[in-house]
Formats: sequence, structure tokens, C-alpha cells
Amino acid sequence: MRIDILSIFPEMIRDAVGVGLLGKALENGLLDVHAHDIRDFATGRHRSVDDTPYGGGAGMLMQCGPIFDAVESLRPVNSLRRIVLLSPRGKRLDQAMVRDFAAEPDLVLLCARYEGVDERVSEALVTDEVSIGDYVLSGGELPALVLVEAISRMLPGVIGDWESVETDSFYEGLLGPPQYTRPETFRGRTVPEIVRSGNHAAIRRWKRKEALRTTLLRRPDLLETTARRHLNNEDYNMLAEIESEMPIGEKENQP
Ligand code: ADE
Repeated sequence: MRIDILSIFPEMIRDAVGVGLLGKALENGLLDVHAHDIRDFATGRHRSVDDTPYGGGAGMLMQCGPIFDAVESLRPVNSLRRIVLLSPRGKRLDQAMVRDFAAEPDLVLLCARYEGVDERVSEALVTDEVSIGDYVLSGGELPALVLVEAISRMLPGVIGDWESVETDSFYEGLLGPPQYTRPETFRGRTVPEIVRSGNHAAIRRWKRKEALRTTLLRRPDLLETTARRHLNNEDYNMLAEIESEMPIGEKENQP
């Protein structure tokens, strides 16, 4: 998969993608990330890419010209099928959107700075607007990196042990179960016996039940939305067990 990222701080992208699993994915050719400087497409002497908004208002806006030219310069290496603007006005990112983007052969990510972009960029160029949460950052670079890292985990070969993706929080819309490593006892707290038992069927059931418990306690909304279509009869039986195990006060707080 190829991802082209347009930004006025391309070095921010290049510095961050070189490390960890993402760095390995690039090294192994499983993913190709190219960061481009929007200023290279500015026409004026000062290479400026922003101007004041018509009608007044605070701050500056990124202009259409350099952004359109930067995107069009990617033809024909990128199909330009999906052009994603990172913006707090966008649709809030979730795992289903990540999976959808990961199925594309290429993507263009557009990082805004200042107070945002001229609306004609959204109207005529952008196919998807994505927000990483209900808070405002100073630019789209960190959100673009969040999206790239989340996408990379969905690409075949990036995560060596696919089971670790399957037990990721949100893989099937559920939060992940608790996990433990050595030592067996730490400051009086002992790892649950079942995960040390070697009984793989029992461990699998325990992990599923604890993932359901964590989700029910922390994000019950997920059980009604993204997780719903992945739940089977055994899951519903386990949820009933979990509710029967809960103290009375906690049960009242459940939907
Ligand atoms: N740019 C600024 N804030 C953002 C957010 N929350 N998500 C995506 N892009 C942004």
C-alpha cells in the first residue's frame, strides 16, 4: 500500500514513521509512505500557502492552489481515489474506518494547519474528512500519523503474530481482556490461575469472557454498536453470567 502525506511539516512525518513496527513495515516494503511539502507548490516569492479569510475572522486559512497542485502532482503514481483531510470537523475515526482505508491500494492524507483549509478543498478534492477525536490540535500531522499507524497494523505481514491483532482492543468491536506476564506474584497480586493452567480451550473462553466484561463495564455502548454483529450465543450467555456475578449497585448502572 502507498500513502502520500501532504503537509507543511513533512519532516514531522518522516521522523515519526521510521521507528517501531511501522519503520519495519516500511523497510520490508509492506507499506510505502511519502511525505510531501505543500510549500513546494506555492507560487509566491515567500512560498506562502495561507491567507486571511473572506468576511473576516481569526487566523489564516490554507489556500486552494498549492493543495490542488500538490495532490495533482501525485498522478499517476497514486490513483487519487481516496483523498483524506484530517480535521476536527471530520467523521470520528474507528476501527471499521481503519479497515476500510487499509483495503485501498493507496491513499492521500492532507494535513491542514492554521485555522483550516478553504472550503473548496473539501468540496472539490477531498473524499473523506477524518477526526481522531473531539479535541483540537494545531495541525493534521499527528492525526495523519495515528491513521497511518492504525492502517499499518491491518496490512498482511506487518504484525508477525496475527493473534495479537485478533486480541487487540477493538478488533471485533470489543475492548481487550486483561493480560499478564512474569512474575507470577507481584506485591501480593497473583496472575489468575486459569491463564497459567495450560488448558487452551479454558484460556480462550476466559479471555473472551474478560473482554466482554471489560467492554460491559467501560464501554457498554460498543456492545450495542460495533461489537454487536460479532457476538454469538455463547457471548450472550457469558454476558448473562457476568451480570449475575456483578454486585447489585453495578448492575443498576448497566443499560
Ligand atoms: N486537526 C486538528 N484537530 C484535529 C483532530 N481532532 N482530528 C483530526 N485532525 C485535526
